[in-house]
Amino acid sequence: MQTNLKVKRFNPGEPGAQPVFQEYSLDIHPDSTILDALVTVREEVDGTLALRCSCRASICGSCGMRINGRARLVCKTRVADLAPNGEQLIVEPMGNQRVVKDLIVSLDTFFDQINRVRPYLQPDSVPESGEFLASNESMTNLLTSMNCIMCGCCVSDCTVLEVDSNFIGPAALAKAWRFTEDPRDGERDSRLKILNDEDGGIWDCTRCMQCVEVCPKEVAPMDRIMELRDAAIEAGYKNTSGYRHTESFYKSVKKNGRLDESRLAIDSTGWTNIPGLLDLAPVGLKAMMKGKLPPIRPHKAEDKEKIKNAYEKVEGERK
Ligand code: SF4
Ligand code: FES
Repeated sequence: MQTNLKVKRFNPGEPGAQPVFQEYSLDIHPDSTILDALVTVREEVDGTLALRCSCRASICGSCGMRINGRARLVCKTRVADLAPNGEQLIVEPMGNQRVVKDLIVSLDTFFDQINRVRPYLQPDSVPESGEFLASNESMTNLLTSMNCIMCGCCVSDCTVLEVDSNFIGPAALAKAWRFTEDPRDGERDSRLKILNDEDGGIWDCTRCMQCVEVCPKEVAPMDRIMELRDAAIEAGYKNTSGYRHTESFYKSVKKNGRLDESRLAIDSTGWTNIPGLLDLAPVGLKAMMKGKLPPIRPHKAEDKEKIKNAYEKVEGERK
């Protein structure tokens, strides 16, 4: 079959170089992966194309790239699945990471983020004899996060990292979750406290789901981040605007069947946070002038009793 690749080329090492797209058309076997096609380009058409791969079996995590704007392992993605009729495939390096050359990105930032969460066990005691025996259930629980192959796809497509490079990021937070859940670790509480308090920590995720969508190993980093939030709240860490936002949202929908937006903004900022409340004033004023100020007395949903019952049912199941 025929494939048409439009590949982003860039060599930051060349003075004055700018990214450009280069097109390649070639005949490939119908079962070829995008990696097979790119390797064919490098070996038979243009030996200057830089790309990284190793296992070719979605194990090593080294072939992450953006295809048509979405991060994927190219050794796991067949050309025919995305472009069965020879449609053009746009191939770019992963996002949110520095390009070394063409399709290769530096993993320095990725591993800096991983290092921020102390990705190793810190036991508070060592058994006097023998090993620390962990139950099968506790180890099985860790499998989601332990499946991570450090490919960086989730970091590439994280919408928070696009605007805030200080965010710890989905892969590192999924890794942090793994250590808070490990019964052999003795630092669960301090880990949760740091992840809760830290600028760029668990409350900075906007739940856009991109990391869940692109992860090739079903680590579902966003789900792990939500579990870290629950664990931090259960451990008593409630001093963040993120927690207050969640609490306000929960209470207003339970009470009125609808979100009370005015109250949400004030609750999230904190009623005693005078500078923060003053910062809200211009936004409120602008909203008022444009007729967008939420009502002071919140609207109530007609079926709010049903919603309240649903809440009580879920709360009862959790007890
Ligand atoms: Fe890759 Fe998934 Fe690990 Fe992110 S969490 S680095 S997408 S395997
Ligand atoms: Fe190893 Fe793709 S080459 S994961």
